[in-house]
Amino acid sequence: MQSVLDHLNANREQAVEQLKALLRIPTVSADSRFKDDVRRGAEFVRDALAAAGLKAELCPTPGNAIVYAEWLGAGSSAPTVLIYGHYDVQPPDPLDKWTTPAFEPTVRDGAIYARGATDDKGQVWTHVLSVAAWLKAAGKLPVNVKFVIEGEEEVGSRNLDDFLATNKGKLKCDIVVVSDTSQYGPGMPAITYGLRGILACEVTLTGPNRDLHSGVFGGSVWNPINALCRLIGKLHDDEGRITVPGFYDDVSPLTDAERQQFRALPFDEHKYQQKLGVDAVHGEAGFSTLERRWARPTCDVNGIYGGYTGEGPKTIVPSTATAKITCRLVPNQNPDKLTQALESFLQANTPAGTKLKFMAHHGGWPTVADLNSPFIAAARRAIEQAFGTAPVMIREGGSIPVVATFKLILGVDTLLLGWGQDTDNLHSPDEHFSLADFHKGTLASAVLWKELAK
Ligand code: BES
Ligand code: ZN
Repeated sequence: MQSVLDHLNANREQAVEQLKALLRIPTVSADSRFKDDVRRGAEFVRDALAAAGLKAELCPTPGNAIVYAEWLGAGSSAPTVLIYGHYDVQPPDPLDKWTTPAFEPTVRDGAIYARGATDDKGQVWTHVLSVAAWLKAAGKLPVNVKFVIEGEEEVGSRNLDDFLATNKGKLKCDIVVVSDTSQYGPGMPAITYGLRGILACEVTLTGPNRDLHSGVFGGSVWNPINALCRLIGKLHDDEGRITVPGFYDDVSPLTDAERQQFRALPFDEHKYQQKLGVDAVHGEAGFSTLERRWARPTCDVNGIYGGYTGEGPKTIVPSTATAKITCRLVPNQNPDKLTQALESFLQANTPAGTKLKFMAHHGGWPTVADLNSPFIAAARRAIEQAFGTAPVMIREGGSIPVVATFKLILGVDTLLLGWGQDTDNLHSPDEHFSLADFHKGTLASAVLWKELAK
């Protein structure tokens, strides 16, 4: 074990250089203009895993290729760990808000800045490096490993479930490890035992058959942007609750014990507001900020457009208005059922004189894990050894839908071991990953393989 850690400590700079090379490839899955780059990103990951000594391949899908790699030399008595992550990234927009360009990775103040630095290339790389170090320094790993690194996580993993179902035998494992979440705070590593689910959709309201002069026609027909805003306004009541009928029917309420556990975590609401640049928090009445973020559902408009948005004024009643909406879901809410409930609510409240078109995008189930598993105990020990402090147990509000499908299709649990921070600006400009967290995460990963073998 020590030789593995020594190897990782001695090769920190090369590790950062290799990560930089991956970060230079703009693997934006949402935008088809980056298709070739996405492919290059997949090849880069495959080649790195092959160079580390794994059998690695690109598995084609109707969308972006999935990188699969394995090393099964630990034998059938050792556990098999499947490492899941994603090499695709969010779009870098708004470009002018970046201090240095999103795909020109730059190290400053002890962190590496680039789109994907923490979500998820940097975190994936901790496992690539640790596995490579074991094979290099010890000639073998204490566990069998399988990597599944996909290229469509940021757009809803639309081809992943099929891949899992078709390759059930090949992907057989005892536990899945994912590093795509965050620590609780600086110096406070965490194991995440719950994630929210998600449903995503898009609605377009159409009014008049073309943009109209707002003086000649305004006031005589529904303006679809005005109507859409009213419709969106109806999604919540004054207490911040979602008004869609049946929305809360399946929500498992927080237990007193869990609320107590959340309250026991250090949390400074004032600092939180300052960090986000707001002078008040807002959410569902009767719940704390952590409860609202981790264990209560939401309904958010992600983008809204319509009419004239160019420079200067233009006096029109627009013909259409569109909103992109996502709801975060908590156990046991069903994304398909609630997509229908949302559509029915929107249709029922569409004013006469406008037409609503509803388009469902992706969905994913929420998850909570059992804290009393030997895998969690092994992860605790690994994190404590690498970070010098025991992890706290947290839930998080983001979604990794495949965690639920790993359980459903492969019958296995997932360890969510995030090495990043929620201040790393994932999905925002100036995304970054602390080099110290990158390194500690790599060491924790290396120790984890030993601890999981026990
Ligand atoms: N890494 C995030 C998920 C995440 C972030 C979990 C922070 C917990 C804490 C992941 O890449 C992501 O953003 N997922 C999407 C999923 C969606 C597109 C289905 C999300 O949560 O918006
Ligand atoms: Zn991610």
